[in-house]
Amino acid sequence: MTMRGRGFHALTVNQFDVPLVRELMERAEWLRTADREEVRTRLQGRIVATLFYEPSTRTRLSFESAVLRLGGSVVGAENARESSSSKKGETLEDVFRVVGCYADAIVIRHHDQEELDRAAPFSPVPIVNAGAGSGEHPTQALLDVYTIWRELGRLEHLTLAVMGDLKYGRTVHSLLRLLAKFPGVRVRLFHPAPLGLPGDLARELEASGLRLERVERLEDAIRGVDVVYQTRIQFERLAGEVDPQAARLYAITASHLVLLPDHARILHPLPRVGEIAPEVDDDVRAAYFRQVENGLYMRMALLDAMLGGERP
Ligand code: NCD
Repeated sequence: MTMRGRGFHALTVNQFDVPLVRELMERAEWLRTADREEVRTRLQGRIVATLFYEPSTRTRLSFESAVLRLGGSVVGAENARESSSSKKGETLEDVFRVVGCYADAIVIRHHDQEELDRAAPFSPVPIVNAGAGSGEHPTQALLDVYTIWRELGRLEHLTLAVMGDLKYGRTVHSLLRLLAKFPGVRVRLFHPAPLGLPGDLARELEASGLRLERVERLEDAIRGVDVVYQTRIQFERLAGEVDPQAARLYAITASHLVLLPDHARILHPLPRVGEIAPEVDDDVRAAYFRQVENGLYMRMALLDAMLGGERP
């Protein structure tokens, strides 16, 4: 494990190699089943700061619950873009230097991945990226692969349909980078024409061995796949490129389920806004609420590996 100490910040999935991903999944499994009292001593006396410059409910609560379950304490600033001294022009470097005096780690959601990458080395404590603009969302990708591994038993030789907003969807960017580290992964991309993967990311992924194929119909995307990864269109980041009515073409309904094998699983980072019909929820292949629970354990695992030390 190389995650302890001042030097390790979780900013992009490129920092996580396959052995580290496996170690985190095993640690998450251990934390899920370990004695509650024992778990509650792992971060005793530690403080984690949460700074959210972009809106979030589930990710912030997930991190905060993870800290509390490990026995740590949380201090936080919600809506930090408006309410913190960034409004006064303070740089992110200085925010990290200051908050790093109070807390043992900083979990941050920011609007700019480059600014985050540049400022993180100035922090005296580990920085965890909880989603940066349309850049990366590494802890979401860790919990996504943890979910696939729990549900399907493997991360190699998978075929996935990745759908929705692949341009602005940071969860997709991080997930595909992480899956590219595993052999034999094929991905069918299904998206509104203007919302494809950024070209440099697609080239990077193909160079690392991921096989990408664009498909034009939802049925062709999901037929026979192991995993459907559905995402919402990020209308708040768009400048009118996509008509909200047209977004309906991308919705999964109960009638599509016949195309999926029994072992297949449907994932979604949430929130959903119509792209998976509620009637799909009762199907055992709908894994998105189990995915939420896995997120709690994966975030506990990450914080425990950074601050809690060796596991017994
Ligand atoms: C995602 C995000 O914030 O990128 N949500 C999350 O973290 N669970 C997905 C989204 O906002 O669509």
